[in-house]
Amino acid sequence: MASVPSLASTVHQRVADALSAALPEAGTADPLLRRSDRADFQANGILALAKKAKANPRELAAQVAGGLPANDVIKEIEVSGPGFLNITIADRAITETLAARAADERLGVPYAENPGTTVVDYAQPNVAKEMHVGHLRSAVIGDAMVKILEFAGEKVVRRHHIGDWGTQFGMLIQYLIEHPHELDHEGSREVSGEEAMSSLNRIYKAARVLFDSDEEFKDRARRRVVDLQAGEKETLALWQRFVDESKIYFYSVFGKLDMEIRDADVVGESGYNEMLEETCHILEESGVAVRSEGALCVFFDDVKGPDGNPVPLIVKKSNGGYGYAATDLSAIRDRVQSLGADTLVYVVDARQSLHFKMVFETARRAGWLNDQEKAVQLAFGTVLGKDGKPFKTREGETVRLVDLLDEAVERAAAVVREKAQDLTEEEIAERAAQVGIGAIKYADLSTSASRDYKFDLDQMVSLNGDTSVYLQYAYARIQSILRKAGDAKPAAHPELGLAPAERALGLHLDRFAEVLAEVASSYEPHKLAAYLYQLASHYTAFYADCPVLKAETPEMVENRLFLCDLTARTLHQGMALLGIRTPERL
Ligand code: ARG
Repeated sequence: MASVPSLASTVHQRVADALSAALPEAGTADPLLRRSDRADFQANGILALAKKAKANPRELAAQVAGGLPANDVIKEIEVSGPGFLNITIADRAITETLAARAADERLGVPYAENPGTTVVDYAQPNVAKEMHVGHLRSAVIGDAMVKILEFAGEKVVRRHHIGDWGTQFGMLIQYLIEHPHELDHEGSREVSGEEAMSSLNRIYKAARVLFDSDEEFKDRARRRVVDLQAGEKETLALWQRFVDESKIYFYSVFGKLDMEIRDADVVGESGYNEMLEETCHILEESGVAVRSEGALCVFFDDVKGPDGNPVPLIVKKSNGGYGYAATDLSAIRDRVQSLGADTLVYVVDARQSLHFKMVFETARRAGWLNDQEKAVQLAFGTVLGKDGKPFKTREGETVRLVDLLDEAVERAAAVVREKAQDLTEEEIAERAAQVGIGAIKYADLSTSASRDYKFDLDQMVSLNGDTSVYLQYAYARIQSILRKAGDAKPAAHPELGLAPAERALGLHLDRFAEVLAEVASSYEPHKLAAYLYQLASHYTAFYADCPVLKAETPEMVENRLFLCDLTARTLHQGMALLGIRTPERL
């Protein structure tokens, strides 16, 4: 369980030490170490420091180079240009560092120095409604972020802020009262997610038709909303049936997505009902919110509508109803004050950015968010169809998430079947799910979340290019080599010199911890995806250049197997953090 300093940080330390010995007034100045094409690293910071100290940059650079310990991590150092240092790492140091990583089950990745508590708000579909691609993005990105933060040692509380409250329940409940068997399950038979959703859909549509055409039903539905808000028992029990039926459906979709969603973490809008009145009261008392045309509102200097008039955040409507904002403000109080969170991450569609901007600002004014707490929206873009327009069916309807998942798995089955020689039907089905769902997740995670992306299944399950299948094949290929190795076992041999492709692969493997730390603090899982893709590409180049089982000496075979094994473990760990499986055979 030892964290392993990366070569970059070791070299940084060495150069910084030599620098402060050569130029004491520079103190702990940063030598600005960067990766370089000419050598392994380049130190770019000396030029500016020399200028500041009125010293000759090339002379200072030479002095720093001369002050580095011999026979150490750095094999070669040369002054270049006006005062840069080109640094080449010793092969031995690369292999030794990788061996230390391999000896650790966390691959040498350290825990965060000051872990805190982060609430991640993600995977938040709406009761009695079909899930769509927007919910897919929130679930996929949120699940990856939860895993990445937990791996870093952060305490993570998951919150699925499902839409389970609102006036539409008046109409649904009233309809169910008047058609009491619509949600019945025959006997004690378990219903599937599909069946649950189809009853909900049927009820929703029928209730809507009545609501729009029958004034008396509309009245009864409205009175039902009042009963619901008053917590009338029978009404609440019927509301609960809609929630439970929806959960059957949600969990079946999350199951298909190979994603664990725990019931205790599903705290929907209704979970904050008890707090709403107090939230509004505090806001009004403190003057953060003011009455405007009967509604309780918060105003912002920089939020104006197209007509130039301020657009407020409405926390309580003029009819006394509470909306989305009151719930989110109460949730902030709960998450900071009761759950002890110092960071709140909301994985929500970018189209809700104005809402969150106003909600966060209101919470700051009210003192619920202070300097010690931060709230961020990990805002994601829209999923587009192949035509570049928001994803719709040919009939112009929103695409059902389940249909997409099923289709991805079907396409993946075709790919797996084509490649598989000795797989049984059962194995093909299992691999197809891992490949198909992985493909969907990877396509989502490999572009920066804020950007829109095109949903293109052909591209997603392609074996070539930046896809999860490509990564899964790289992993499976390594496993097959390890199986074929027989008695030869992976073992590091630091005494061996490395070929260029081995060095490139090794230096990239060494960056894993660095990349994870960056991804955890910037909430950018696409950088982990990019790292893994580059890793697979480095591996492909290594595999083409360096025979593994047919290497010249037994030591070289072992050392190359060692590189293969560490690559596989790094791929496996990285993919797992993205929520993607790595089958042993493909
Ligand atoms: N249920 C909402 C939707 O489908 C997303 C909820 C986002 N989270 C929140 N705390 N508002 O758009």
